[in-house]
Amino acid sequence: MNNRTPLIAGNWKMHKTGAQAVEAASRIKTLVTSATGVEVMIAPTFTALYQVGQVLKGSPIALAGQNLHWESQGAFTGEISAQMLADAGCSQVIVGHSERRQFFGETDETVNMKIKAALSANLTPVLCIGESETEREAGNTFSVLDKQVRDGLNGFAFDGQADIVVAYEPVWAIGTGKTATREQAQEAHRFIRNLLDSLFGKPFASAVRILYGGSVKPDNVKALMEMPDVDGALVGGASLDPETFSKLVFFN
Ligand code: G3P
Repeated sequence: MNNRTPLIAGNWKMHKTGAQAVEAASRIKTLVTSATGVEVMIAPTFTALYQVGQVLKGSPIALAGQNLHWESQGAFTGEISAQMLADAGCSQVIVGHSERRQFFGETDETVNMKIKAALSANLTPVLCIGESETEREAGNTFSVLDKQVRDGLNGFAFDGQADIVVAYEPVWAIGTGKTATREQAQEAHRFIRNLLDSLFGKPFASAVRILYGGSVKPDNVKALMEMPDVDGALVGGASLDPETFSKLVFFN
């Protein structure tokens, strides 16, 4: 048994804005506010952040950004700072999602700078890591995860508080319907927790929540959540429908 409260997080990616986002957030709020023993987070698009934040105000549902820039301000057209996310009502921010790494040049070094900026603005970073199908088939899964954690968290010192969340998202499971087996997820999560222990000590490693992401659905969430080192889910497609997302929140 551990003291980690499960976290079910919805990453809406580039979906929903305006009234559609408000309607979905309102419906999710109605459906999940009664949930106990689980925390919920929604990461809408930037254009919907403030409106969704207003809907979620007073509810236990956390608001998160999907990305951020590491600078606090400046001539960075199109970018958003950690403080701007906090001002919009965010308490968390997704950092290093594989789609940012794949399509927008995100590196472990920029992830590191973004995590520092997030912590400086009192946002909880959700550090996304995960291997590609090619890397897994080559037997390189653990070396990929090792590098992403070490470089992403290089230079940090944590005092036992769970200042970050880690999301293990095997790239080959994202949006593919090919969910990792619960054994694969547990093996990766155990590796990550042991690595965090070796880098930052057992109190921190025991406190950090490690989410699984990659085709999480109502028919597989319970099996995944039964694994000792799976502390929740970072959900894409299944978070877009409030009723489906609420089934994930009530996984137990
Ligand atoms: O960040 C979560 C996302 O990458 C997972 O997407 O659609 O496979 O649940 P999906």
